[in-house]
Amino acid sequence: MIDFGNFYQLIAKGPLSHWLNTLPAQLSAWQRESLHGKFKQWFNAVEALPELIPSQLDVQHSVTAALQPDLSNGQREGLEVRLRQLMPWRKGPYSLYGVNIDTEWRSDWKWERLTPHISALQGRLVLDVGCGSGYHLWRMVGAGAHLAVGIDPMQLFVCQFEAVRKLLGNDQRAHVLPLGIEQQPELAAFDTVFSMGVLYHRRSPLDHLWQLKNQLVSAGELVLETLVIEGDENAVLVPGERYAQMRNVYFIPSAPALVRWLEKCGFVDVRIVDHCVTTLEEQRRTSWMTTESLADFLDPNDHCKTCEGYPAPLRAVIVARNP
Ligand SMILES: C[S@@+](CC[C@H](N)C(=O)[O-])C[C@H]1O[C@@H](n2cnc3c(N)ncnc32)[C@H](O)[C@@H]1O
Repeated sequence: MIDFGNFYQLIAKGPLSHWLNTLPAQLSAWQRESLHGKFKQWFNAVEALPELIPSQLDVQHSVTAALQPDLSNGQREGLEVRLRQLMPWRKGPYSLYGVNIDTEWRSDWKWERLTPHISALQGRLVLDVGCGSGYHLWRMVGAGAHLAVGIDPMQLFVCQFEAVRKLLGNDQRAHVLPLGIEQQPELAAFDTVFSMGVLYHRRSPLDHLWQLKNQLVSAGELVLETLVIEGDENAVLVPGERYAQMRNVYFIPSAPALVRWLEKCGFVDVRIVDHCVTTLEEQRRTSWMTTESLADFLDPNDHCKTCEGYPAPLRAVIVARNP
């Protein structure tokens, strides 16, 4: 079972202490009642990993851990076998003692696109909503965040995070909790909140923006990254049953519409800082994620369209401030 005790201790003093009124009961109920059928198998793969303390650790430019002297070939192969038991790996890449987890997404590219535009993370308390395997949490730590907390309801991703954490010397500067944003109390405690790749999965996107706002301190910063379409402030795509083969896509606004939504929710200083078409180099099938990926979701004759005929994935990053 995942032990959240270290996290509780970490937040017992400081701006997140009031979370302890609800969080332990919530996570105990989760451990008792909501475990995925494969959770035990995934967690056993984490338990079977060696506890390694890297002699070189880089989370500033990548997520890379190394040992001097290196692992033997046999040890490295054993590590790779265990990590492959946690496939599919979507968000990364990670380089762990010579095992290169070549994930479906180049999450480092997204990070590079947005970091020039956000407030420095040095000393900040940050929340990453929908953090996946936690790749960006480590990069937030690398950028100086005091504590990086991620939430994600997908239990495989929580186990992937725990696997990486174990291999980074049980690093306690980042934590992932198996929760959805809708389960969060209004904490009003984080200096920066990231929501990347989540908004279009929410049935009620304005409620999502309110929920993000409720996590922020006054003057805190929201970093919102999501799928957008071209168009003016009134343009919104509500796809039919699927968008790029995904069933759970509800609203894809234009970036100007998103600015208006954010302002409607009370955010100020709203800025569109990046616009970018997702390329076949950024999202692709690899030996660590062997099922369909972007190339299979696009019209084979026209990569400007999804296979359903909608505009191909275009993403924007918007930065806004809680007044
Ligand atoms: C497209 S991925 C984005 C991952 C990462 N933030 C990134 O930008 O690379 C969306 C993530 O949101 C998570 N998610 C889905 N519903 C959520 C919810 N209600 N609250 C928080 N996260 C959610 C998914 O499990 C998934 O890991």
